[in-house]
Amino acid sequence: MSIQVIILAAGKGSRMRSKLPKVLQPLAAIPLLEHVIKLAKTLATDKISTVVGHGAELVKEVFAKHDYLIFIEQTQQLGTGHAVMQADEHYADDDTVLILYGDVPLTKPTTLQNLLDLVSDSHPLSILTISLADSTGYGRIIRDSNNKVIAIVEEKDATLEQKQVKEVNTGIMAVKGFYLRSWLAKLSCDNAQDEYYLTDIIAMCVADGLQVATAKPSGEIEVLGVNNKQQLQDLERDFQQQLATGLMEQGVTLIDADRVDIRGELEVGTDVLIDVNTIFEGKVTLGDNVTIGSHCYIRNTEIASGTVVEPFSHIDGAMLGKDCQIGPYARIRPDTNLDDNVKIGNFVETKKTNIGKGSKVNHLSYVGDTIMGKDCNIGAGTITCNYDGVNKHQTVLGDKVFVGSASQLIAPVNLTDNVTIGAGSTIAKNVTEEGLTLSRAKQISIRSWKKPVKEQPLIK
Ligand code: UD1
Ligand code: CA
Repeated sequence: MSIQVIILAAGKGSRMRSKLPKVLQPLAAIPLLEHVIKLAKTLATDKISTVVGHGAELVKEVFAKHDYLIFIEQTQQLGTGHAVMQADEHYADDDTVLILYGDVPLTKPTTLQNLLDLVSDSHPLSILTISLADSTGYGRIIRDSNNKVIAIVEEKDATLEQKQVKEVNTGIMAVKGFYLRSWLAKLSCDNAQDEYYLTDIIAMCVADGLQVATAKPSGEIEVLGVNNKQQLQDLERDFQQQLATGLMEQGVTLIDADRVDIRGELEVGTDVLIDVNTIFEGKVTLGDNVTIGSHCYIRNTEIASGTVVEPFSHIDGAMLGKDCQIGPYARIRPDTNLDDNVKIGNFVETKKTNIGKGSKVNHLSYVGDTIMGKDCNIGAGTITCNYDGVNKHQTVLGDKVFVGSASQLIAPVNLTDNVTIGAGSTIAKNVTEEGLTLSRAKQISIRSWKKPVKEQPLIK
């Protein structure tokens, strides 16, 4: 017996008012559907079937790399029952089929496991339900006097009395393949929406003399679907709060748990401090005692222990060593590798650059395509001129190189250990011996020069 997952994701989501298909809308920077796929992967025995329709081409393209996904096209959206029918060949009679929605992203694996555990020969169908203060819009769970589930009635088909019911269908269910197939074959669209309702199988199960089991999620957030941008942002905030709580449980100091955003995976050591309005994207690792100042954006980066990132720094695709000091206002671009104790100050941009232990680039510099040794000091306003308009060239500095302020290093160029470059120099040739090198135009003063005077208008 195996578990087959079918994700329903063909709906249009017109209330999003977006050209992007609903299931591709981002939650924590990841498409809604990807959250569901990740969840499905924790439970599915084999490949995961996803029923797509609106924007199918784009959805398939986005997930093209995932070879464990089967995309099934539902060309006309004739209802949830019709959607599941499309996946007919992807489950066997003795499989348990788990049905998920592509726009319900935050269900917990444990909740689904509980739901699956309820499925047996005597209970071939189990549904995930929840009681809501306001059940408007949902299918209502109808129980008999013995509290046994006998049907699900959709809002549009419900009587006034049925509309009072607070227990609703989340849409998520687990069902034995054999029964699913036989009940789907009997569905009709004789209802208020002229659709094939998957929910009609509940009454069919009861009519076959079998019982319907129900499981509950641990909280509403687990079953919230997304239909419009408001709900998308509500879920985003809920999710971010969950992630922030998780970080604090790991011992992270958050100055304000409502003002940190994690869009991906954030791994943390002990005694990490994160100040307000900081965004983490992709895979970010923070070592012990790392401090991230306010208003930083950090993406796909590893930061080793003791490093302090001052406010307003932007770091992407970098590896930062131990006890570095970054920013404020630093821009660290992809393939920047800093050794320990490096200092990158304000308005410094680095790219594709290795900087050795203890080196400092403190102010207003651009360092790109560079290999820098240990204990170098790069003066304010130093620019590596790495691009000739066509190709990129490398700058190589040895250890203890001192570059005076406002210098340009025209790559390709090598400066050996212990070289000092005088301020304001343009260095285009390799410097192979230590000592002072400078290239400056001779300073002159012109005594006869007069300050320009403003012309007086002829007529007043
Ligand atoms: C459905 C349930 C309702 C439940 C609610 C929970 C039915 C008949 N109703 O209603 O009991 O309370 O979800 O949110 O099942 N989809 C397709 N193809 C289709 C139709 C839908 O793939 O032809 C997909 C949608 O993309 C979506 C999911 O199925 O992911 C649910 O569809 P939706 O139209 O939102 O169902 P509701 O009418 O809200
Ligand atoms: Ca819905």
